[in-house]
Amino acid sequence: MREPAAAVPGGTAEEPRRPAEPPPPRKIDCGREKCVSLTFDDGPGPYTERLLDTLKAGGVRATFFLLGENVHGHRDVVRRMALDGHEVANHTWSHPDLTELPAASVRSQIRRTQKAIEDASGVEPTLVRPPYGATDERVGRAAGMPQILWSVDTKDWLYRSVSRGARVGINQPDRGDIILYHDTHKPSVDCIPKVVDGLRKRGFTFVTVSELFRGERLEPGEVYTEGTPEAELVAASPPPPGTPAGPPR
Ligand code: NI
Repeated sequence: MREPAAAVPGGTAEEPRRPAEPPPPRKIDCGREKCVSLTFDDGPGPYTERLLDTLKAGGVRATFFLLGENVHGHRDVVRRMALDGHEVANHTWSHPDLTELPAASVRSQIRRTQKAIEDASGVEPTLVRPPYGATDERVGRAAGMPQILWSVDTKDWLYRSVSRGARVGINQPDRGDIILYHDTHKPSVDCIPKVVDGLRKRGFTFVTVSELFRGERLEPGEVYTEGTPEAELVAASPPPPGTPAGPPR
């Protein structure tokens, strides 16, 4: 958080100029809307600013799991993420397998990254994604934040194909899914305009991970891979009176 701009001594007709603040969180009900979260890992990098342009043009808010070691070279980009309404989150400092590290190193990987992101953006992350999705109870305890994995793995880092990245990203997601891309690869960034169009045509609303879980209590150290899938939403609500019994779903 930043301090408000100091009042001008003596007072003037003009409002003191305030630092720009991130927009407030939106109240999107993912129990009613068909929500999906785009997430981008390992950045920021040389393509991230272009990705932000794409997301802005499409009115999309996404979640960025940032590497602390990449923040200092792209501080303006990280600040813009927050101001554009994206969620900035923690992907450790240097992308180690946290299960191989002593607890003190896990904590340091996460703490340094929290500080770098907060210094650049003014926002303190509340979510962490362990590199490779590699975690265990000990890492969870040391991380001290909800751990967010994914439910749609585009494997974009492996195939590095615009057409494949678009096809998987458009066709595979279901309601509540968390989709994994890496903005450090050019083809991944290049496919996003198509993915945004395609998912919107399928009726999806793009939300950040925190918006996806709005109303749920995320526990520090716990692992989350997706929001509530449609099947569970249907099961949780009683059928309206007079509904004929259908086949089991
Ligand atoms: Ni990663």
